[in-house]
Formats: sequence, C-alpha cells, structure tokens
Amino acid sequence: MIKINLKNLEIVVEKEIKKTDNLKDLDKIFRKYLGKKGKITLIFNSLKKLPVNERKDLGKQANLIKIEIDRMIKKKSKEFKKEKREAQLKKERIDVTRPGKKIKIGHLHPLTLVQREIGEIFQSMGFSIVVGPEVETEWYNFDALNIPEDHPARDMWDTFWLKEKLLLRTHTSPVQIRYMEKHQPPLRIIVPGRVFRHEATDASHEIQFYQLEGLVVDKNVSAANFRAVIEEFLKRFFKTDIEIRLRPGFFPFTEPSFEIDARREKGDWLEVMGAGMVHPNVFKTVGLNPKSWQGFAFGMGLDRLAMLKYKISDTRLFYSSDLRFLKQF
Ligand code: PHE
Repeated sequence: MIKINLKNLEIVVEKEIKKTDNLKDLDKIFRKYLGKKGKITLIFNSLKKLPVNERKDLGKQANLIKIEIDRMIKKKSKEFKKEKREAQLKKERIDVTRPGKKIKIGHLHPLTLVQREIGEIFQSMGFSIVVGPEVETEWYNFDALNIPEDHPARDMWDTFWLKEKLLLRTHTSPVQIRYMEKHQPPLRIIVPGRVFRHEATDASHEIQFYQLEGLVVDKNVSAANFRAVIEEFLKRFFKTDIEIRLRPGFFPFTEPSFEIDARREKGDWLEVMGAGMVHPNVFKTVGLNPKSWQGFAFGMGLDRLAMLKYKISDTRLFYSSDLRFLKQF
C-alpha cells in the first residue's frame, strides 16, 4: 500500500512544483513533504515500527524519493532566483547611450575674475599677493597711516565703528603697515580685499567694495618706476594701448600723492587709482629709516576697474545677486 503511494508521489510532487510560480509556494511544498511533519519525514519516523525486511525496502525507496524531491525543489528554486535577478538587472540597466543629465555649475563672480586676473599680471611682475583683516584697529586703519585723530582726512574715510576702537577697514592700506612690520624691504606686494565706507549708495558708490593695494619698497624707487609698472599693468588688463596721466592728489600716507587717470585711444580720461611715494612718517612708524628706503604705493577700486572693463554702468549690480547680470560672465 505504502509502496504504491511512493511511486505516485514523485509524479504528484513534480506536478505541484511545476505549477508554483513563486518561492513562497515552493517552500510550502518543501515543508509538506520534507519538513518536520512532512509526508516523507513521517514515513521515516514510522520505519521503526515495521519488521526489519519491510523497513529496509521502504527506507531505501523513501530515501530515493526524498533525494529526488529535494533535487526538484532546489532546481526550481534556482530558476526562480535567476528569473528574479534577471528582472532586476533589466530594471536597473543603465542605458549608456542615453544623453546625460546636464549638471548646472556656477562660475566665478566678475569681481573674483577681475581680482584673479589682476593678481596674475602683478605676480608676473614679481609681486606677492598678501591679505589682511577686514575688521581693523583704528591704529592700523588711520594713525599708522599718518592720519591722527581729528585730522580732517578722516572724513574722507567714514566707516562702521565696532566696539573697542575696532572698525571695518576703509581701505586696504593698513596691510602696508602690517606687512612692513613683519618683513624687511626690498618688498613688492599687492593686497586685494574688501573695504567698507559709511555712505549713501548710488550707481558709483557702495558701502562695501573691493580694492587692490600695491606697495613697492627698495633702495631706489621713483615715481617713474611707478608709472612704468602701472602703465604696463593697465595695458595688459585692458588688452589695448592705454595712456595714463598723473595729477597731483592728496593722501596723508604718501608724499607726493597722485591721482591716476587713464584713457584708451584718445577717449575720455577716467580716474582709475590713487597713489604716491610712501610718506616718511609711515616708514618711521614701521621702524624703517626714510633716508635709506624709498617706495611707492597705490590703491585701486576693483569694482571700478571691472566696470570699465566690462562696461557696467551700476556698481550695485555686483552685489544684487541678479542672475540676469551674473550669467553674462
Ligand atoms: N587708500 C587710498 C584710498 O582708499 C588709496 C591709496 C592707496 C592712495 C595707496 C595712495 C596709496 O583712497
């Protein structure tokens, strides 16, 4: 009786396996026959109640069918896993021929572009780039630059005062002092940086803007050297022939002082920077003997140079974050 069942069993199980279409059902079949309470397992468990000769025979058959069912289930299970993997691969496949998504990248601000370009020009002429703090002491911003308290020149540079005689620097000139305190001449530096002024804003004035300071100190430095350096710089920056002229000017930290105007091809003269020969008092302040050292200094507005170069009419555009403006660079 049991023998007949066993013979059919293989066919029955085979059919059941064939019908399943998922791993879960397949597992049910496994448990139904080979699990703890599975049909085949129960046969094994009942063997000991049988007489020895029957036991041997049935045991052998049950074992064969057990191996066979196990093999069929494993085979089917492998098929399922393979199908699943293939479906997943298909889903996750990367089509390398599809055009990529363009990632939007930003670019440098026009003032940064101008600052870097000017930096490169001066570096090629042997200048080092130096920076200083935006929050300055009153002493570095004014006194050390020969602008004592109550000097009318302080009105030229009204700024934002902070606590304890600290202020937002009105120019990059304090870095002249900071640098000369720590470095012995000969020296040749430029100092790009942000400066602040307390004033009403309009198309040509902002409460913050960028300057670029220059300082050259050596045994024999003349205004003619200054003129040559600046002319060369402006030609390279504007990539055209530039004519310059020096007008007398006034800065407490230079003597004599000049205002520099520039023009291209007989165009209008435009004021581009202030400059002068380093004042003896400034040398004294940093412990240099004005009889042994000479130097020139200059300060230009980066915003203004950028406006001239790119023909921008309003300085406030640099700080407005207006993409219609920024995207043009
Ligand atoms: N610091 C001056 C200003 O802000 C410019 C300047 C720099 C003039 C160096 C002379 C020498 O107006």
